[in-house]
Amino acid sequence: SLQGYESFMMKEIRESWGAVRDTLTGLLKENELLNKTIKAIERAKRVIIVAAGTSYNAGLLFTIRLQRAGFNAISVIASEHNNLRTNQDDTVLVISQSGETMDSLIALKKYKNNGSFIISLTNTLGNSISSYSDIALHTRAGPEIGVAATKTFTSQVGALMLLSSLLLNESVDYLKEAESVIANSFSKVIGYTKIIGSELSKKPSLYYLGKGLGVPLAMEGALKIKEIAYVHAEAYPAGESKHGPIALVENGFPVIFLNNGEFTDELYNNVMEMESRHAKTYVISAGSKISTNNNQNEIVLDVPDPRLSPLALAPPIQLIAYYAAKERGANPDRPRNLAKTVTVR
Ligand code: M6R
Repeated sequence: SLQGYESFMMKEIRESWGAVRDTLTGLLKENELLNKTIKAIERAKRVIIVAAGTSYNAGLLFTIRLQRAGFNAISVIASEHNNLRTNQDDTVLVISQSGETMDSLIALKKYKNNGSFIISLTNTLGNSISSYSDIALHTRAGPEIGVAATKTFTSQVGALMLLSSLLLNESVDYLKEAESVIANSFSKVIGYTKIIGSELSKKPSLYYLGKGLGVPLAMEGALKIKEIAYVHAEAYPAGESKHGPIALVENGFPVIFLNNGEFTDELYNNVMEMESRHAKTYVISAGSKISTNNNQNEIVLDVPDPRLSPLALAPPIQLIAYYAAKERGANPDRPRNLAKTVTVR
């Protein structure tokens, strides 16, 4: 039930930090399963990460972390599984909140038939995807009623941060602060995102730009606002925006920058580029600030460890979409044309 909340989406965003905490403690208890997972990824010649929609965006963070560490990791959009032929030397990670997404299930079966080792990360027990997997891992976000994935996304990100740190032989102590980082981000951005959401609800189109781990977050921000507020949005790597997309930018065109704290100088240049075209820029920074002046459109989230930045950036992108939907009178829980679980090809 709604338990006093005006929508499931808001309730579920508010549940996201508890969901991440439960996901991390749950996974850390499954020592044997985690060790098997690490071994299966380490021995693989290639690591293929397969998912759709929001789960794909979460997976991309994992792919980038592994690529940076020298792993041969590739992200594949589930419905485009035909573009890749896997074999018995590959380990495939299928990520799906529901565990029932037809595109992801078809990709899984095909790669399994090729002899690849299959790991899944789903949010429900006894789903089809986990039943076909060699190792079934779970997030512990609890049921998600809103069609827009929110707490399940944040939980996937938490789980994948844990896995990537284990693979990179990093201490996972920093993840103890995941819960408070997400909760603090939520409280810090709630007023700001209401203003942005309402401004964006009046615009036909916008860009979400980021760099590095900010790119999958930008993709997720753009997906969310399209999905529930019906505002056209595109995500780009910030540097790539000057190779075409910038042509659309004119007076007042909204551009949201997601700064995960890694490439502040480059992002600063991209912000300036957009501002010189009179774009309306918004900057959401995790950790370190971009602007040198007192840019009133930059909000800086506290992150005690840079690896927590993607988690800190989850509440603002979800809340912006939520408030844009509200402002437009759209029901964020039940967007048109969309099902919670897409069981058709
Ligand atoms: O259940 P899954 O994670 O496999 O679902 C994949 C997508 O259909 C899903 O993430 C979709 O993009 C969401 N509605 C986005 O909010």
